[in-house]
Amino acid sequence: MTNNNRNIKIFDTTLRDGEQSPGASMSLREKIQIAEIFDQMNIDIIEAGFPIASNGDFESVKEVSKIIKNVQVCGLARAGEKDIDRAAEALKNAKNPRIHTFIATSPVHMKYKLQMNEEEVLDAVNFSVSRARNLVDDVQWSAEDATRTESDFLHKCVDVAISAGATTINIPDTVGYATPDEYYEIISSLIDNIPSSDKVTFSTHCHNDLGLAVANSLSGIRAGAGQVECTMNGIGERAGNAALEEIVMSMKVRNDVLNYNSNVDTKLFTRASRLVSSVTSFPVQYNKAIVGKNAFAHEAGIHQDGMLKHNETYEIMTPESVGLSESTLVMGKHSGKHAFKEKAKELGYVLADNQLKDAFYRFKELADKKKEIFDDDIVAIIDDEFSSRNEQIKLVSLMIQAGTEGPQFAELAMEVNGKIYKTKSDGDGPVDALFNAISEIVPHESELQLYQVHAVTEGTDAQAEVSVRLHESGKTVIGRGADTDTLVASARAYISALNRLMIKRKKNIPEEITN
Ligand code: KIV
Ligand code: ZN
Repeated sequence: MTNNNRNIKIFDTTLRDGEQSPGASMSLREKIQIAEIFDQMNIDIIEAGFPIASNGDFESVKEVSKIIKNVQVCGLARAGEKDIDRAAEALKNAKNPRIHTFIATSPVHMKYKLQMNEEEVLDAVNFSVSRARNLVDDVQWSAEDATRTESDFLHKCVDVAISAGATTINIPDTVGYATPDEYYEIISSLIDNIPSSDKVTFSTHCHNDLGLAVANSLSGIRAGAGQVECTMNGIGERAGNAALEEIVMSMKVRNDVLNYNSNVDTKLFTRASRLVSSVTSFPVQYNKAIVGKNAFAHEAGIHQDGMLKHNETYEIMTPESVGLSESTLVMGKHSGKHAFKEKAKELGYVLADNQLKDAFYRFKELADKKKEIFDDDIVAIIDDEFSSRNEQIKLVSLMIQAGTEGPQFAELAMEVNGKIYKTKSDGDGPVDALFNAISEIVPHESELQLYQVHAVTEGTDAQAEVSVRLHESGKTVIGRGADTDTLVASARAYISALNRLMIKRKKNIPEEITN
């Protein structure tokens, strides 16, 4: 790495813009788990939520602020007083809080969404940034839909935001419309023409509607931006945001032409990617750069031959550099608790004694059923254990009849608040019968939005990992379950989703606001 590298701040918005992806809701505990990995990874700023949007978002910013001490924590706010005050309240325990306030500046957003004219928007910029600056020292201002904003007006808005005290100016390509050259022009023109532009950090925030989010972000950095906003696995609204791992690895691997660096520990990418994927139930596409299952797989004979002779023939970065290490511990039926604990550590999990006990028990059960235990099996068991602790509703036993000769039915026993309930239900296939049985014991009005089965490894004895998404009066929850029996995994996933729904109902977490 050369000394003239420019350091770029990595601003992660997985917990805010990422969570805004339809269906990607995360519980508070999951958000904290993700924030903890980002903390270890040396991300510079975590946007932990949009505090006015829901109690869940407020709690997320508040708890992440309390727990995370190395990384700066940020909360999002629209331009109004209530939004800004709520963000400041959520951030009150943060060591180094940042309020991120925004307003739309493009003609189409101002006319149809905000119904405000340019003067009114400029006043709102001044008001929101000044108010936020009275509450915290670090204020970021964003021009929503900046890339479709008239250039003169964008310059005026940025000028007002800087005069009012903004420390970071973010230029979102909200609808993923810009091309790399255009985005470069927008940022360099702001930096070159606004007299006080050297007093602030410019930031990129690119959506991926045309698949250009990473290219645009790198273009923005080349134009002088000192901060890049991104998400793990590129999750986010619609086609998502610029993928954090792609930006950071581009800067690292092509440092010969991209003379920038970040503080990020790239060895945590695989672990963070798996966690975000498992928490949101958004599978990572197999050929996804850096973190996809095939990103380091070589299938063609000619490639395999080259790799055996020298790995630089077909590899521009090592799997180890992104945390995909050759396993050092092979696990099987005879492995003990100590080896299991070490393996969990190798995979990035630190287990408390009770978690270790339960996960180890599940591992032993699995080792009795399955010939080979892969790392992914252990990840599935631990994730399942983490997501099902202290649940009010538990699966006790399940018996299914299925096959060509109906009726298909499920005989189910569940524990609800310490009491055992049994039922028998039929349905259109075994999964339907099972879900009907669960609904008989725990009646509810929620709509099943997603039922997804994924084989954790290869082979017919593979564990199935099932995700279930339920939606009820504006509340969305995701439950997951893993087992070598797909129907047991389905029961666990549905029950886990119901447990989460109970928690949301109790806390009465309201419908998210739209804008
Ligand atoms: O895409 C966008 O414009 C945003 C802003 C709130 C920064 O996410
Ligand atoms: Zn966005």
